[in-house]
Amino acid sequence: MRHHKLALCKEHYLEWIPAQTARFIKKYWMFGPDERVLVAVSGGKDSLSLWDILWRLGYQVDGLYLGLGIDGEAGYSTESHRLTEKFAIERGLKLHVVDIQQEYGASIPMLAEKSRRGQGRPCSVCGVAKRHEMNRIARDFGYDVLATGHNLDDEVAVLFANSLAWSVDLLRRQEPVLHESDGLARKVKPLCRFYEKEMAAYALLRGIEYIYEECPFAIGSTSIYYKEMLNRLESDRPGAKLAYYVKFLESKKNGMFSPPTSQEFILTPCPQCGQPTSADGLCSFCKIVRKT
Ligand code: AMP
Ligand code: FES
Ligand code: ZN
Repeated sequence: MRHHKLALCKEHYLEWIPAQTARFIKKYWMFGPDERVLVAVSGGKDSLSLWDILWRLGYQVDGLYLGLGIDGEAGYSTESHRLTEKFAIERGLKLHVVDIQQEYGASIPMLAEKSRRGQGRPCSVCGVAKRHEMNRIARDFGYDVLATGHNLDDEVAVLFANSLAWSVDLLRRQEPVLHESDGLARKVKPLCRFYEKEMAAYALLRGIEYIYEECPFAIGSTSIYYKEMLNRLESDRPGAKLAYYVKFLESKKNGMFSPPTSQEFILTPCPQCGQPTSADGLCSFCKIVRKT
C-alpha cells in the first residue's frame, strides 16, 4: 500500500482491515455494539467483505439483497443472488431478499423503459429503487442503521463529479454517515476510506466468492470514466485520492459550506408509501412504479 507506505503479509492484512474498519466506525460515530445493522449486499467484493468484517467484529448484522432483474448474457442478478445466499448460508447469517419484479410487477429494466428517467440507461431508476427499498426494509424491520459497501474509489468519483458541477447540496450531503430523520434510516459507509484494490485483496485473501462482473449497464458510464482518470492520478501520485477525500471531509467540518437554510429540507410523507419526499405528491419511486 504505497499510499500508507505499508506492506503487510496475509495474516496481518486480514487483521488490519477489520481493525481499521472498527476505527472508522468509531471515528465517524456510525453505530455502537448494541445497535442492529442492516448491510445492503450486492454480491460484489465490497458489500460481501463489509458483511464479513462487521460479523467478525461482533456487530449484530443482517443482510439485504435486492433482486433487480438485470440478467443479460452473464446472468448478473441471478449470479449475484446465488453468491450472496451462499455467503449467508456458510456463516449462518440472516439475509432478507426482495425481488423488485415480484414486489412491484416489473424488474428494473422494465421500470426504466416506462420512465423518462430511464431513457438510455436504467441506472438512475435503479438508484431510486435501491434507496427506496433499502430504507423500507431498514424501517419495517426496525434496524438502527443501514450500511452500504461504498469504497474510497466510489466516494472520490462522486466527489469529483459533484465538484466539477459545484453541486453544493450534494457535496454537503456526501458524508460517511447520514443521520436518521423522520422515516429515513441512518446510512453509513464503513469502507469509505479503503481503496477498491484493498477491498478486492481482502475478499480474495479471505476466500470470499464474489461476482467479478460489473452491472452490464455500468459499462461506459461517466463514473467509470472518472474512476479511470483518478486511477491515472493515483498511479503518479500515490495517496492523492485518499487525501482528496479526507481533506474534503475536514474542510467541511471547518465550515467550508454554510449550513442549509431549513427551507431546503422540507420533506413530507409520500401519500402512497409513506416515505419522506421533497416532491409535492408521490415520491420518485412511486411515480416510476405507477407508470408500469
Ligand atoms: P453501487 O450503487 O452498485 O455502486 O453499489 C453501492 C452499494 O449499494 C453496494 O456496496 C451495496 O452495499 C449496495 N447495493 C448495490 N446493489 C445492491 C443490491 N442489488 N442489493 C443490495 N444492496 C445493493
Ligand atoms: Fe442498477 Fe446497474 S442499473 S446496478
Ligand atoms: Zn412513495
